[in-house]
Amino acid sequence: MASPHPFESAKDYEIRLTSKLIKDSYPASANVHFVQIDRLDPPKKDMIKYLAAEREGLKTPPIPRVFYAYYYTNDLEFNKALVNVTAGHIITKQQQPQGTVGPFLPDDMMEWEEHCNNHPIVIEEIKKLKLPSNYTVRNDPWIYATDDPNEKRPLVQFFMYVLAGNGHTESNHYSLPLKFSPVFEAFTKKFVRMDYLPGGFDATTVPTGPWQEVQCCEYHPDLNGEVVPRDVKPLLISQPEGPSFTVQGNLVKWQGWEFRVSSTSREGFAVYDGYFKGRQVFYRVSLSEMTVPYGDPRAPYHRKQAFDLGDCGFGVNGNRLALGCDCLGVIKYMDGHGIHANGEPFVIPNTICMHEQDDGLLYKHVNYRTGNATVARRRIFIVQTIATVANYEYIINLKFVSDGSIDIEARATGILSTMPIDENVKVPWGTIVAPNCMAAYHQHILSFRIDPAVDGHKNTVVFDDTKKLPKDKELNPYGIGFVSDRKFVEKPGYVEQSPFTNRSYKIINENVINPISKTPVGYKISMPARQMLLADDTSFNTRRAKFATQQVWVTKYHDNELFAAGEFTNQSQKDTGLAEWSVRDENVRNDDCVVWATLGFTHIPRVEDFPVMPVEIHNIMLTPFNFFDKNPALDIPQANNNFNKSILVESKEEGGCCKTKI
Ligand code: CU
Repeated sequence: MASPHPFESAKDYEIRLTSKLIKDSYPASANVHFVQIDRLDPPKKDMIKYLAAEREGLKTPPIPRVFYAYYYTNDLEFNKALVNVTAGHIITKQQQPQGTVGPFLPDDMMEWEEHCNNHPIVIEEIKKLKLPSNYTVRNDPWIYATDDPNEKRPLVQFFMYVLAGNGHTESNHYSLPLKFSPVFEAFTKKFVRMDYLPGGFDATTVPTGPWQEVQCCEYHPDLNGEVVPRDVKPLLISQPEGPSFTVQGNLVKWQGWEFRVSSTSREGFAVYDGYFKGRQVFYRVSLSEMTVPYGDPRAPYHRKQAFDLGDCGFGVNGNRLALGCDCLGVIKYMDGHGIHANGEPFVIPNTICMHEQDDGLLYKHVNYRTGNATVARRRIFIVQTIATVANYEYIINLKFVSDGSIDIEARATGILSTMPIDENVKVPWGTIVAPNCMAAYHQHILSFRIDPAVDGHKNTVVFDDTKKLPKDKELNPYGIGFVSDRKFVEKPGYVEQSPFTNRSYKIINENVINPISKTPVGYKISMPARQMLLADDTSFNTRRAKFATQQVWVTKYHDNELFAAGEFTNQSQKDTGLAEWSVRDENVRNDDCVVWATLGFTHIPRVEDFPVMPVEIHNIMLTPFNFFDKNPALDIPQANNNFNKSILVESKEEGGCCKTKI
């Protein structure tokens, strides 16, 4: 069988071979328990040769498919192995230092959920609630995070909720949080401790007593009490001649764009080898990490800090996307994959969708003398995935635009993580969103890894500040001048935000000069200044997520450095990613550099975010900046109605609001 393209997603048979080789290398008594298996990117230097040969239609050099596997042996030993799947042998396997905790497996989380609710100590606690008949208890297993450097066991903390007795599976338990929270050892399932949660202003807790019934705030249409649905007419996306994109294997071609899309267990997806109109733009772009720290200072909430990629895998928690729901129009789907603990793969069908969207106007000019309009519509090609990480949903969109720009978009939705709060209590770190239900302030801090290749792999990151030109009799006699002041990033590190100098970051190629502007070609990274991580510098939250303290980081490219907070984040003590890579004494100017763009949003919940949160949208734009010799979208056909076939609203009442015939 021909080996898949080096950038193609993991195949079932490759995962199966990886797990088999590893299992066969241990005695059965070791009880090998896999938690993640996926493809590893090939060394970049080999891939550059491969991709060059591929573009020239030459024979491509062989590149072995290498897989990594994370797994436990004997319940508590965490291991990592690398397997050459092409040759069929293990390259390395290594037990990780005690205290290294791997990502949790979705299957395990489900099993622990059940184990917790059936544990005698938890049952005893539930009995004390004296719940009304038909009411039960549901739990959310939570990542334990870190507050003790001596804690080496993989642990899970369970947040407990009442499930209203309406008999409906979709009832919103998050509306009814309880005040006890058991902690278990993850793989041995041993009960560790019962934490009690405060209901007042301070950390004081009380023993569990009878539950005071409150109304559940429901989101599901069967339960939410909205009996008359809003009148919405169909809005259909029709592409009668088919879409303007093609997908061969994982190679996408659309409106001058060419790139490959690969599903990954940890990131959801990565896009590789991006070109626009035959010009190289990037080597790899993906979400790299996301941390969600909570601001409620009371124990045990101080440990609420999730790493949604490293702790559990964004891809393996990917949704099965549905036509006409998650994606409108003419859709191309791509599958993802996960594994069971025995190393057997399973498919996550349709977890990535790709499609075109109209996006309003791209450009327009009316010659006021003639009244003639020159106008083209903006079209985008979306690569989308959605992951459910317990209560929250994250929608990651990479939007390729017909003018050569890329819009990286994150949308947060789902249900707020809630805590119990007593009647008539207010706290300064949370919003009461339903009766006796508080949603603590928190942050979502995402790192997108942009491995650029702007006209080649030797790139430079610069930042430009726009400044007033000092008033000067000769140079600026009227005092109105302003100029751009450029600084070059020479060494790894971060660039501070500076919204009041309109600081803008660019990735340029100093070796390629734009013939028109006579300046280096480049791509601009537009991201509004945002609040970064709020935790104290000495806190575990900051030590574990150094990446979340700055908006833009630059490092020199090294293979296998993909994750901003490091490879293993679950119960980590420190950031082993950017915290380490950004302090090396290396050159990054006119070199193979990587940009890490941090998209942070501090989420002060509002009542309207409950019971299910309307999407909060945040973007990073990558825009060609003196890259082309003119607007690269002039070849887009002019917008006209023969093509777009829009029609007029039919006026039912003469003189009514719809009488807008043109
Ligand atoms: Cu939020």
